[in-house]
Amino acid sequence: MFNLVIQGSYFTINPNDYQKINFIQNALIVIDHSGKIDRILQPNDKDYSLIKQQAKNKDLLITLNNDQFILPGFIDLHIHAAQWPQIGTALDRPLQQWLNDYTFPLEASFSDLDLAKNTYQDLVHTLLSYGTTTAVMFGTVNNEPNQILAKQCIQQGLRAFIGKVVMDNPDQCPQYYRDENISTAINQTKQFIEFTDELNSNNAIKITPVITPRFIPSCTIECLKVLGDLASKNNLPIQTHLSESNWENDYALSTYNQPDTHILQAANLLNDRTILAHATQLKSSDYNILKDKHSSIAHCPISNIYFGNAVLPVKKLLNNGNQVGLGTDISGGYSPSLYRNLQQAVMSSRLLNDGVNNEICAAKRGVPNSQITMNEAFYLATAGGAKALKLPTGQIKPGYLADLQVVKLHTSAMLKSANDYLERLIYQTEQNDIQAVFVQGQLVVNKINL
Ligand code: GUN
Ligand code: FE
Repeated sequence: MFNLVIQGSYFTINPNDYQKINFIQNALIVIDHSGKIDRILQPNDKDYSLIKQQAKNKDLLITLNNDQFILPGFIDLHIHAAQWPQIGTALDRPLQQWLNDYTFPLEASFSDLDLAKNTYQDLVHTLLSYGTTTAVMFGTVNNEPNQILAKQCIQQGLRAFIGKVVMDNPDQCPQYYRDENISTAINQTKQFIEFTDELNSNNAIKITPVITPRFIPSCTIECLKVLGDLASKNNLPIQTHLSESNWENDYALSTYNQPDTHILQAANLLNDRTILAHATQLKSSDYNILKDKHSSIAHCPISNIYFGNAVLPVKKLLNNGNQVGLGTDISGGYSPSLYRNLQQAVMSSRLLNDGVNNEICAAKRGVPNSQITMNEAFYLATAGGAKALKLPTGQIKPGYLADLQVVKLHTSAMLKSANDYLERLIYQTEQNDIQAVFVQGQLVVNKINL
């Protein structure tokens, strides 16, 4: 039996071709008690009127207007929860300075648990109100604030993957903000895993703990290896930063004489549950290692403008068969909105395609075939992210979790095609236009009195 039926028109990626979308009008999305989409009925379906009537009789029918559309909830593959208080700050500094002068002191200050609670309450609410239904998060080195973050996500209904950040390299991490030694780093990581196990025992929406070495400079090689073993023993996802900037990429090359990818591979940290943020400085050989390992890249197009020192060649990666999703990278990225990052993903790909230096002749200025469409960006934020997480979400389809957002479109003009409607929705949607959000069938944002 159903728990809720939503009548409305929806967009979802075409499961057979991520360059295409499906647009289904006036459907009934039937959601079961576990929060999954049980079935989807179209108006010509023989059961359509019956199910609609049954839902109406039980007061379980939501009927949307013609200017409201349903999209899958978005998946943010990379975000630093503790950086929310410095969103949109100090982005004119280079990455290393930004980390040492702003970011590490801020993250350390979360030992003030009131700050942690207030910040996380606001952040989780904000993410949901932008249509994000799953988020993959870095917490802090300290575990107490991480526990507060996990509880906030459960309380407000955000599906979250959260990692206790590991930083044990005394050469690169300040004394006031690092793991004392490898065993502290590992014990704290294990402690957070146990905490989430307990927290999950009586909640439908789960928190998944993530093995989280911050990046190569912040960790010792021995520690990376122990984390790799821990991840495989517990079958846990892994998140880290990969070849993000010139400085960060050169660090591994000059210190260990090999790129980030090789170091992570040797530490058993590349597998089909690994999420690698940025990756703007990779070589083709690295792409092939990631592809062989089925590891995913979290494309963070806004953040990459500031710290990436290059544009990630998303189109090339997709053509190569690499797995890619989308991340805000709060606060390397200044916006909590995946809409803004979808827009930037398309815009950055255009710059890569055409090139930027007008002193170079047009034929040689850019990297041909680098442009992505809005449909492809939409794939990154939905099915792409879900594939990275091995989660049945990101698509509106029977058997999938009912992670949905209801968005109002500002136009009465008739557009030519479903592609046009989706494109306009992604470019024009502001926070207020996201009128309702469901995670696993639970209404978590409701601006229209549903
Ligand atoms: N590299 C290591 N830590 C960070 C971080 O917090 N943000 C970004 N963008 N890059 C990092
Ligand atoms: Fe980051």
